[in-house]
Amino acid sequence: MSQSALTTEIDRLGPWFHNIHLPSGHQTAPDHFFGDFPMTKWRQIAPFLPKDLSGKTVLDIGCNAGFYSFELAARGADVLGIDMDDRYLEQARWVAQRKQLSDCTRFKKASVYEVGNLDAGQFDIVLFMGVFYHLRHPLLALDLIQSLEPELLVFQTLTHGDEVVSPFSWTETNFQTRDRLGERGWPSMAFIETTFAGDPTNWWVPNHAGVEAMLRSAGFTVTARPGHEIYVCNAAEAASRPYLDEAHQDARSIMSNAQGSQR
Ligand SMILES: C[S@@+](CC[C@H](N)C(=O)[O-])C[C@H]1O[C@@H](n2cnc3c(N)ncnc32)[C@H](O)[C@@H]1O
Repeated sequence: MSQSALTTEIDRLGPWFHNIHLPSGHQTAPDHFFGDFPMTKWRQIAPFLPKDLSGKTVLDIGCNAGFYSFELAARGADVLGIDMDDRYLEQARWVAQRKQLSDCTRFKKASVYEVGNLDAGQFDIVLFMGVFYHLRHPLLALDLIQSLEPELLVFQTLTHGDEVVSPFSWTETNFQTRDRLGERGWPSMAFIETTFAGDPTNWWVPNHAGVEAMLRSAGFTVTARPGHEIYVCNAAEAASRPYLDEAHQDARSIMSNAQGSQR
């Protein structure tokens, strides 16, 4: 494809949220409002992932134009990217061809709520970046991802506040001490009834303590913090609280009932 034809194609497929560097030297969003995004985030995450991912399978949830999918495929992984937006999926498939990574990347229209129904077998690594706060049912999504039992989860979300974590434990809290729930560092999540940053798909903004607590509660252990708002997790050894198994079972039932009623 000629240089000008490439530029025309990039424009036709835009607007782009991912600035992807193409082998031709073109970039898909060189004037991105976050700079060279998400390359700057990837540089933080990359050292925390194995350099050789040969034989590994990856699920990239909310893959967008596939920036992370391509980086992991370049390390040898077999990647499935899912997203709800056809426009982004078209971008991802187009970039896969330009990068000659179509054999090891697939892009499919699916929601995070459908991850139990992908017919793609097990995933060694799950990327769940920049999607959590766009969900009306974020804990349901985390529970469904946990039921995939990945070795590694890379999680990123918008947060608010500082990184103080309350020293109180939930087992010590009761009706008399309930005011602790509003204290700095208590795990919490702000609900956005209208829009945040002009985007009506932003529903929840957790604090750092809330992110750690929700990941723990869904059955993940945070093992590394490559950067602000980024969490690398392993599957936890054991449930962190009573009734967690029942909650995960509930998540699977909710989704299988919902899928059954669509048929
Ligand atoms: C802020 S972008 C993040 C893209 C990419 N993961 C990243 O970190 O750069 C959010 C992406 O999630 C997708 N998305 C929103 N709701 C989703 C859902 N329910 N299931 C899967 N993807 C979803 C959007 O279409 C969009 O591509």
